[in-house]
Amino acid sequence: MSLSELSREDLTELHAQQTAAYEELVGRGLKLDLTRGKPSAAQLDLSNELLTLPGAGVYADQAGVDCRNYGGTQGLLELREIFAPLLGVPVDQLVGGDNASLSIMHDTIVFSLLKGPVGGEPWVRQPVKFICPVPGYDRHFALCEQFGIEMIPVPLDEHGPDLDQVRELVASDPAVKGIWIVPTYANPTGAVYSEEVTRALVEMPTAADDFRIFWDNAYAVHHLTDTETPAIDVLGLAAAAGQPDRVFVFASTSKITFAGAGVSFFASSAANVAWYLAHLGKRTIGPDKINHLRHVLHLKSPEGVRELMRRHRAIIEPKFDQVIQILQTRLGDHGAATWTQPDGGYFISLDVPDGTATRVVSLAKAAGIVMTAAGAAFPYGRDPRDRNIRIAPTMPEPADVALAIEGLSTCVLLAAAEQALTGASALSA
Ligand SMILES: Cc1ncc(COP(=O)(O)O)c(C=O)c1O
Repeated sequence: MSLSELSREDLTELHAQQTAAYEELVGRGLKLDLTRGKPSAAQLDLSNELLTLPGAGVYADQAGVDCRNYGGTQGLLELREIFAPLLGVPVDQLVGGDNASLSIMHDTIVFSLLKGPVGGEPWVRQPVKFICPVPGYDRHFALCEQFGIEMIPVPLDEHGPDLDQVRELVASDPAVKGIWIVPTYANPTGAVYSEEVTRALVEMPTAADDFRIFWDNAYAVHHLTDTETPAIDVLGLAAAAGQPDRVFVFASTSKITFAGAGVSFFASSAANVAWYLAHLGKRTIGPDKINHLRHVLHLKSPEGVRELMRRHRAIIEPKFDQVIQILQTRLGDHGAATWTQPDGGYFISLDVPDGTATRVVSLAKAAGIVMTAAGAAFPYGRDPRDRNIRIAPTMPEPADVALAIEGLSTCVLLAAAEQALTGASALSA
């Protein structure tokens, strides 16, 4: 029965049960960490071949360029040929970089701030605001905070942000220069942007001529079902809408090969790619092309990447299923929480009763289950409803995922019962 339908007596009973369950949980002395969406060791093992590639004496690319040397700022053509179709971008508008797309996002922001984007003045000369669909990726928000970019949260549903709000914000305020988008299996909700929403975003009139969509397709090929939805041709849609320079595309192999030693990507209009490479050329004399070569030899083709991702899926899908199943069993009848059931990506987003997320996370921590801080998926770490918790099930062993979610469910019920009994969320840990 739903918590809201329980009598005070039943609530007191539930509270007593969950308090006992919680004390038992604390007594187990668990040490579990569900904070960051990292690949597990078993997933990393899938790409161990990289440790021995390219092999002795192999250092030339297809064109005969010596990858050991400087140069080739755009990255190996054969690597870009593998990823261009997967990301739905033209190969000549794709740049292959070093190991972190977050660095490219950082750089595009810094270049825009200090030098100005194509067709725009340096952003530092004016106030800059970004629209942040929420819940979203904490590191996007950290980048904005780092550079004094004001963040405007807009609610995200399963196919994109509230478009009315976005349209109004970009049309009315020239300081609104950007929006963060994770179009496929968004972190943390698993939202997948529809073509309709994408078209609206590239077409909408904006007060700023140099408005940019930061299209972070980190999970483009990270499917958890047989429906392997292809990437939307966002650059083509933007060009067709007469806004070719509006979109910056980012991606990486962090969760395809090695999270710490993969390859990152940037794609955009020809003009933006030239702009990016010109600024990048001051920062580096070329990317790690040996790593590009290694990745080409390991992945071989777009289909090679898809095959590898199916092997990732075989490892992580049971963990996601387990989380969903435990949440359903433990919380389903109580109406105390809702959660996403993503078709891909790395996260499950859990919404607990308003005003209890912080309490749940601190109860869990005291029981040895470390969750991402409540509010982390919101700008400035502030979840106005204090209800969202991000679950990252990929890294721990399946048995540990189960233990952690069982324990977390106890914390959710305990906090919900406390709140229902006191009528307030003031029982902070
Ligand atoms: C949406 C999103 N973008 C980017 C990243 C990090 O990407 P990279 O490892 O390429 O820097 C992550 C990692 O969790 C992510 O969730």
